Amino acid sequence: METTVPLLTGRAAALADVEADWLIVPVFEGESLSAPVSALDARLGRALDRLCQSGDLTGKANELVPLLRPSGIASERVLCVGVGKRSALDRATLNDAAAAAARSATGKPTRRLAFALPDGLPAGEAALAGGVGLVQGCVGPGLRKSSPTRYSPQELWLVAPTDADGPELQAAVRRAASEAQSVALARELINLPPCELYPESFAERARQLAAETGFECDVLDEARLKQERMGALLGIAHGSDRPPRVVVLRYRGGKSDRTLGLVGKGVTFDSGGLSLKTVENMADMKTDMAGSAAVLGAMQVAAELAPPFPVHGYLGAAENMPSGTAYRPGDVLVSRLGKTVEVTNTDAEGRLVLGDVLAYAVEQKPSAVVDLATLTGACVVALGNWVGGLFSNDDALAGELLEAAGRAGEAFWRLPLVDLQKETLRSEVADMKNSGERWGGAITAAVFLREFVGDTPWAHLDIAGPSQAPRERGYLGKGATGIGVRTLAEFLVRRSVSR
Ligand code: BES
Ligand code: MN
Ligand code: ZN
Repeated sequence: METTVPLLTGRAAALADVEADWLIVPVFEGESLSAPVSALDARLGRALDRLCQSGDLTGKANELVPLLRPSGIASERVLCVGVGKRSALDRATLNDAAAAAARSATGKPTRRLAFALPDGLPAGEAALAGGVGLVQGCVGPGLRKSSPTRYSPQELWLVAPTDADGPELQAAVRRAASEAQSVALARELINLPPCELYPESFAERARQLAAETGFECDVLDEARLKQERMGALLGIAHGSDRPPRVVVLRYRGGKSDRTLGLVGKGVTFDSGGLSLKTVENMADMKTDMAGSAAVLGAMQVAAELAPPFPVHGYLGAAENMPSGTAYRPGDVLVSRLGKTVEVTNTDAEGRLVLGDVLAYAVEQKPSAVVDLATLTGACVVALGNWVGGLFSNDDALAGELLEAAGRAGEAFWRLPLVDLQKETLRSEVADMKNSGERWGGAITAAVFLREFVGDTPWAHLDIAGPSQAPRERGYLGKGATGIGVRTLAEFLVRRSVSR
């Protein structure tokens, strides 16, 4: 059962002539209707204007006002969606508004949603934010429900003013379609139950996607991982009946001295191992592969947008389970780099997986490597459910990523790599322990990872908080958010034009 993502296309048209089940119309707060909307309203006998006058339609961000079965226009329903003040409009706001509207319109079966691109952003930006947002609103968890709660339409139209169609709009629509598909893919994989998505099936999905999209895919199985001396990753996987996989994805393009490496934590279920989690803490641990899902999504975007440099993706897929064969507190693991790690907590498994995979990625001499991981509860304590942590040994790379994230509408905050924190990992029996004291746990984990990247410019995104919405929030249903995909897509595009 796979999510089908609606087909996203762009066209220029007068709004009154657009034939759709729902015509979604953005409305700004604190100003009169924009010219294209006002032209639509003329055909509606000034119905929208009256709603504005009566205070029913204010344009506040994410406000939804439907107009059912209007006469005088080609669409069957109009849905006005507030996008807030014009001066504050950015991609994130428009993305959320489009998603909120689509989420409301897809509660019942529909064939076609049309979204009128507002004039407050350059057409390309509006198409990207509107397109990705619409698709996000059309898909959601509920895939295994006997009676669906969300009905994805077949078609999504982005409608630009009649003078705005052109190559710029079409390029933006292509990027939006690609990015939207990748966000939907990441959300779908994360939402899948862990009895269906485990290292082998995850690797198989990656292989399938690589073949469809046109990038290379090598799957390293257990025997190969032994040969490659990934002792830390193999250690954590040992308790599970499901063998681990490392998936290596390659998009080849342009100058290899600018290769970008992307590494994802792909723990398909984290029970904590013998250091077993509590019922509450274990409940959502199928999301522990969200970093890998984002990397896979970003690879798809890379293959479609074809940046002028190679992109290598690495998914470290394993399941962390307690059993008679599980790794134990007290065990010492020999990592790929040769560094030995004393296990003091089997629930600090992500850093063991990433340590080996990062070391492997760095051997390819990438110009930069970025990892994404649902790594620590401490990062959720520090930054909450909507903001990810960013760590880096390179200020320029950190700046690039923060800017890309800001533009893409995903929130990250830089946290420091504090050298002193490493002392908490000092071990009597090995080079280091895998877990330190409670305080500053997100930093400790990042400092642990730093041991495996050498001098390569590296950034670590701890997405434990924003990988899933703990409850419904406006446009977002509960469940996986697909965080990271939009940031990485923007990062790829920016790297394509710079230098
Ligand atoms: N996968 C968890 C981190 C996590 C917590 C992700 C909450 C999403 C939401 C990770 O493997 C973990 O268990 N980390 C431990 C580390 C500790 C044992 C040093 C944690 O955060 O408690
Ligand atoms: Mn864990
Ligand atoms: Zn984990």
